[in-house]
Order: sequence, then structure tokens, then C-alpha cells
Amino acid sequence: MTNQHGRNDVASENIVTVFGGTGFLGRRIVSRLLDKGVDIRAASRHPHQTLENASGKRPFQPIEADILDRSSIAAALAGSRAAVNAVSLYVERGEQTFKRVHVEAAADLATASRKAGVERFVHISGIGSDPNSRSDYIRARGRGEEAVKAAFPGAVIVRPAVMAGPDDAFITTIVRLVRLLPIYPLFGEGDTRLQPVHVGEVAEAVSRLVSGQSAADASIFECAGPRIYSYRDLVREIATQLNARVRLVPVPFALWHILATAAEFLPAAPLTRNQVDLMRRDNVAASDLPGLEELGIQPRGIEE
Ligand SMILES: NC(=O)c1ccc[n+]([C@@H]2O[C@H](COP(=O)([O-])OP(=O)(O)OC[C@H]3O[C@@H](n4cnc5c(N)ncnc54)[C@H](OP(=O)(O)O)[C@@H]3O)[C@@H](O)[C@H]2O)c1
Repeated sequence: MTNQHGRNDVASENIVTVFGGTGFLGRRIVSRLLDKGVDIRAASRHPHQTLENASGKRPFQPIEADILDRSSIAAALAGSRAAVNAVSLYVERGEQTFKRVHVEAAADLATASRKAGVERFVHISGIGSDPNSRSDYIRARGRGEEAVKAAFPGAVIVRPAVMAGPDDAFITTIVRLVRLLPIYPLFGEGDTRLQPVHVGEVAEAVSRLVSGQSAADASIFECAGPRIYSYRDLVREIATQLNARVRLVPVPFALWHILATAAEFLPAAPLTRNQVDLMRRDNVAASDLPGLEELGIQPRGIEE
């Protein structure tokens, strides 16, 4: 493991390490924590990317670490007061399987954090995680949560709904397709209910949890936006906002599954089977679990 950017070194031993700190969510977590004056180590396999995302902010430490490699995990955690796992895997390739990354490596990270004396550990999962699901992805997310809680008692699980932001994969794709296509293919009948949330609000929630800025005492938070849409209504709403005329056509999930299997062979898979699996069931926050509001965050609608 190397620190590739010596000029960005942070001398403090009171550090929060964000694994996946260069990602869509992770770099916003880094940014929010920097704003709060926290010393940050942003760990990923390609750490140079963080420099571009945090220009103008206080210095922080980009560090190269692969959560499949226990020695690099330990080095990245050294001296950390808190750690966040915001690592993703959306398409299985070689040894990078959902089980390996979302269950085993997540547990390794939690164990290493406990052994390193980390006080707060936040694991990012997703709404709908289910250890008994037939979907390999959803099951791995559910089992990952269980493994993390067993390895680090007191770990906090944050389950975001689908996240929206300037460079997101979900809303941006709908916008692009609505602009491009006269006929829009729905997932199934388009009845799946979704509760999209701003990525910045999820990042703020995580930053409050790791910096002890919240009095909310719970082990699972489901972070979702203020409004529930059916997928069909969401596409309609986006088309209306864009002044686009588009005909919505139901497409069976079995066909989406075949398309996603083929799309996963493309370098930056535009569609994945786990997305199709997730779209088969409603993705809304449970009414009996705390979320953004309990953390003092009033979620804004994605229309804004
Ligand atoms: N995006 C959403 O709408 C959404 C919704 C619900 C839940 N989530 C969850 O939120 C979390 C973050 O998702 P995201 O969309 O921000 O993911 P992302 O943009 O794909 O970022 C993933 C991050 O993990 C790093 N990473 C991947 N494999 C790694 C490894 N083996 N070791 C170390 N770092 C690794 C990546 O950097 P390198 O490739 O350089 O290593 C990157 O920094 C995930 O758990 C995801 O399932 C996302």
C-alpha cells in the first residue's frame, strides 16, 4: 500500500477512513467530513481520483487500499477513529463476487476496524437488502449486514434508497433515454415504487453518524427522499420537466434479465442484473426504521 500523494498528508492520528472514498457516494462523504473539520483518509484502489473531487477543500490523505487484501485494509485503518465502508460492486468479475466483496470483505473490514480500536463503523448497504433473497446481489447485501454486525458490535448500517445527483447512474439514464427515445421501455408494468434521495443528503447523514453529530441511537438507518413514485410516474415526471413526449411501454422482467446479462459484458455495463433484481420489488424506506429526519436532515424532493 502506498500513499501516492505525499503533499496531501494529514499528520493527525484522529482520522476517519472512508473506503470507497472516490465513489459517487464516498467522495461526497469525504467532502462533507472535510467541511466539518474532520481529518480524512480516502481509501480505494485508484486513490488519485479523489484529488480532482476535493479540490479547494482542506488537505486529506488519499490512500491505495483493496478491501480484498487484508494487509492493505489494516494499513489504511491505522490510527483511525472511525471508518466507513462505501465500496460497491455492481457486476461480478473473476474473484470479485458479490459474496466476496459485500459479505467476506465487508466482514474483514469490520473485524480489522474493531481490532484497530476504531470507535465508529458505518457500513453502506441498500434498502431492500435481504439475507434470504433469491437474488445473489440482494442476498449478499443482507448477509453482509449480518456479517458486519457480528464482526463489529455497534456498527451502524446505512441503507440508501436509489440516489440522485449530478453524476448519478439512475435518474441521469432516465433523462438521457427520455430525450433520445420516442418509446420508453418500462421495467415490467412500471409499478415498482421508488423513493429517490439526494446523494448529498445521504453523505450528510453518514458524516453525522461518524462524527458523533447525531443523538439518534440506532443500528440501521434507511435514507430516502420525501416522495414515493412508481417507476412509471417517475419517468413521466422527468419527461414533463424536460417537455419531452414519450410513450411508455411495459417490458417483462425476463426480457430485462436477458438484456442485462448481455450488457454486463460491456466495459461500463449500462444495465446490470442486480439493477433488474432491485427493480422487481418496491424500494422505499421502512416506516419503523429511522432515517434522514431522525438525523436532523429534512430531505428535499429530487425535482429541485
Ligand atoms: N448509487 C446508488 O444509487 C446506491 C443506492 C443504494 C445503495 N448504494 C450503495 O452505496 C455504496 C456506494 O455506492 P456508489 O454508487 O457510490 O459506488 P461507486 O460510485 O461505484 O463507488 C465505489 C467506490 O468503491 C471503490 N472500490 C471498489 N472496489 C473496491 C475494493 N475492492 N477495494 C477498495 N475500494 C473499492 C471504488 O474505487 P476504486 O474502483 O478505485 O477502488 C469507489 O471509490 C455501495 O454499497 C452501494 O451498493 C448505492
